Amino acid sequence: MMTYEQAKASWLASDPPTHYLSVADLNPRTARIVLELAHAMKRATHSAQELFRFARPTALALIFEKPSLRTRVTLEVGLYQMGAHGVYLTQSDIQMGKREAVMDIARNLGRWVQGVVARVFLHTTLEELARFSDVPVINALSDREHPCQALADLMTVQERKGTQPLTLAWVGDGNNVCHSFTLLAALLGHRVRIATPAGYAPQEVILEQARAFATLSGGSVELLHDPRAAVADADVIYTDVWVSMGFETEREARLRKFLPYQVNEALLRCAKPDAIVLHCLPARRGEEITDAVLDGTQSAVWDQAENRLHTQKALLALMLG
Ligand code: CP
Ligand code: NVA
Repeated sequence: MMTYEQAKASWLASDPPTHYLSVADLNPRTARIVLELAHAMKRATHSAQELFRFARPTALALIFEKPSLRTRVTLEVGLYQMGAHGVYLTQSDIQMGKREAVMDIARNLGRWVQGVVARVFLHTTLEELARFSDVPVINALSDREHPCQALADLMTVQERKGTQPLTLAWVGDGNNVCHSFTLLAALLGHRVRIATPAGYAPQEVILEQARAFATLSGGSVELLHDPRAAVADADVIYTDVWVSMGFETEREARLRKFLPYQVNEALLRCAKPDAIVLHCLPARRGEEITDAVLDGTQSAVWDQAENRLHTQKALLALMLG
């Protein structure tokens, strides 16, 4: 089993990122090190041990402009388990960009904390935080990406299916979660098929980056509109809400367009019989996914949610330890 010291030495020798705003800040080596350490940390945590504790007093600012269950709890619990502290800051506390300029918040925080984790509406806010921050900045979800989520997603795929190249189908909105999942899956050599309604495909800049990763890794990225074609013989089916945070005014139009993209038992039957189903959660039961699928034997979503804890601990230990 990998030790923290081995992981950290490999990490330092593998061109590690200063900030983690996008999956594209990783390379195939650093991505694999985070995942391997996360598997080791999970085994240790389950036997009531910890592979890593911070040697020096360590505190992180946890900025949340939007609500969260999983991200907040796994960050706070993970930091607690590793002997560090998280300071939870909502938009009503600090009013980033209103009460105080983003760059001034970054400069202040760097004097007190060893890292900043932020969930923001605009990805450009993260880029500004990073530009003016003396400490690492980590994306806890933006309108463009959810890179911490992708680590838990691919860790779950590895647990269930091993590390061989697989066919991974994304069905629904080409949103932030889709972006990060596609980038990491392509980086690790998987075949990614994405089925979205017209007008809801992933951003072109993300697709270009993912295809560049796939060219190097032997994977592929394919864009489709037919959900059945996307999941045909797939090993993994992944979906997310049709109305992401910040898009509530588009709800009615989106529900109409996304209806054929529901992950239900009929769609699941088009995939391999042992395919697993992923969802980053929260789910809108009866919209993008049915109860039968979410609660069914092929659902891996609770492991996936648990793995948010282990992957973030691994990432923070590597970036800040
Ligand atoms: N998947 C996820 O990020 O969940 P939360 O929005 O509850 O943090
Ligand atoms: N795409 C969703 C993910 C929530 C974790 C959103 O941005 O609201």
